[in-house]
Amino acid sequence: MTDLQPVVDEIYEALKPRLGEGRVADYIPQLAHVDPKKFGMAVVDVEGRVFRAGDSDEPFSIQSISKVFTLTLALGKHGEAIWNRVGREPSGSSFNSIVQLEHEGGKPRNPFINAGAIAVSDLILAGHTPREAIGEIVRFVRFLADDETIAIDPAVARSEQATGFRNFALANFMRSFGILTHPVEHVLGVYFHQCAIAMTCTQLARSGLFLAAAGHNPITGHLVVSKQRARRINALMLTCGHYDGSGDFAYRVGLPGKSGVGGGILAVAPGKASVAVWAPGLNENGNSLVGSLALEMLANRTGWSVF
Ligand code: DON
Repeated sequence: MTDLQPVVDEIYEALKPRLGEGRVADYIPQLAHVDPKKFGMAVVDVEGRVFRAGDSDEPFSIQSISKVFTLTLALGKHGEAIWNRVGREPSGSSFNSIVQLEHEGGKPRNPFINAGAIAVSDLILAGHTPREAIGEIVRFVRFLADDETIAIDPAVARSEQATGFRNFALANFMRSFGILTHPVEHVLGVYFHQCAIAMTCTQLARSGLFLAAAGHNPITGHLVVSKQRARRINALMLTCGHYDGSGDFAYRVGLPGKSGVGGGILAVAPGKASVAVWAPGLNENGNSLVGSLALEMLANRTGWSVF
């Protein structure tokens, strides 16, 4: 494969004048403290080569990107039975919307909106205390990235625990329908901590590499999931990974991707590479504005769109 370092450098240079665009999430107070002009990018190809630019080795809050990892874990634990609790259709609503739950038996549309991810956290909690479940998630992410230093930012977890009123509403609503089976405080304890995992772009790109390499990690040699499961997780990322902005992201970038309100995006170019970008300013759908531009430029330069 070609040396992508010049491409990554060119994207960083081209985007420098736009750093700081968008709105940093402040509904989780701790996230508002981040410098809006940060930008990081890391591409890890299926041969294990890493190309990076900017603040690619500075940890940031991965937030909803964690939903890819918990979905993978839940599928490993419960298999296709998870689809009894959560759907796999785009929601067309914002990431924290409650409206659709009332008409659909409390079953969230997909595992990437907040309600769906909370339902997935409930599945991971089965047979565990919240502390054990959180430990399992962190160990899994460390295993994927092959990096034991990855950790939760406790200030972010506390900040969300103190202000996550909307998530408490979603969880209580789902619990009333029997979609959640554990105490709401336990489920949200798991959910808030998974969202508060801090990672660098380099770590994040490495942790997504199994999705680009048909389910195995070509750096460590570990088989993570089957080829079919990797394909299916990618399909969900493509259709639902950017919430009500998923169509626009598919149109502009054409890659499976998952965003987080910390400003990160993990994108997968199947058979080619895993890419992580970070720029804290968000667009109107809660997805990184400059991060999406970086991925659009990368897809244009490389021809990696899946379409
Ligand atoms: O539950 C929340 O609102 C956050 N912990 C995660 C939301 C998120 O990252 C949405 N992504 N763009």
